[in-house]
Amino acid sequence: MGDLMDGIKGRRSTRNFLSDKDVPEDVLARVFEAVQWAQSWANTQCWELVVVKNPETKQALQGTLSKGNPATRAMVEAPIVVAVCGKLQSAGYYKGQVTTKFGDWFMYDLGIATQNLCLAAHSLGLGTVVVGLFEHDKVREILALPEGCEVVTLLPLGYPAKGSGAPKRREISEFVHHEKF
Ligand SMILES: Cc1cc2nc3c(=O)[nH]c(=O)nc-3n(C[C@H](O)[C@H](O)[C@H](O)COP(=O)(O)O)c2cc1C
Repeated sequence: MGDLMDGIKGRRSTRNFLSDKDVPEDVLARVFEAVQWAQSWANTQCWELVVVKNPETKQALQGTLSKGNPATRAMVEAPIVVAVCGKLQSAGYYKGQVTTKFGDWFMYDLGIATQNLCLAAHSLGLGTVVVGLFEHDKVREILALPEGCEVVTLLPLGYPAKGSGAPKRREISEFVHHEKF
């Protein structure tokens, strides 16, 4: 438990990467294994990952980020960018029909899978930053995603160049409510 809590609390968003230090394939495989074992709605496992190493593609992805996004440099500096995509109409569905008022749960399941990925990467000495603020349809085109598949986040991944401090968290007492809200 100690190790797990250390990992959860010690993981930081990395926005500065060692651009010349590649991630070995066996290390990358361990990171993806953490996604493989993520929990998901009825074990639907709706995730699809696109691994981008080509510098021109990374540059094109960088061009889709909203102006002033603090992860802009990371998109080309990191040796790898993982596009976290999801198959629609799977999580939260039963026999083609939505089962809850929330409709498609793909973003929820991708969030869990992403956290597994980020924590596994951190445990292996790698850094990541979840990037959500970009033009999703442009990335769909760049990565040639098929119909029924959407990209949700882009994750620059690599060895961190420097650490960063932890942004302040809310107190537990501010968000835990007992018996009723
Ligand atoms: C869904 C999601 C989207 C995010 N999008 C961006 C982003 O577009 N650019 C960025 O620099 N950081 C982004 N972040 C990183 C958050 O800013 C970061 O997780 C938060 O400030 C807490 O810092 P920590 O990850 O170091 O604990 C995103 C995080 C999440 C979970």
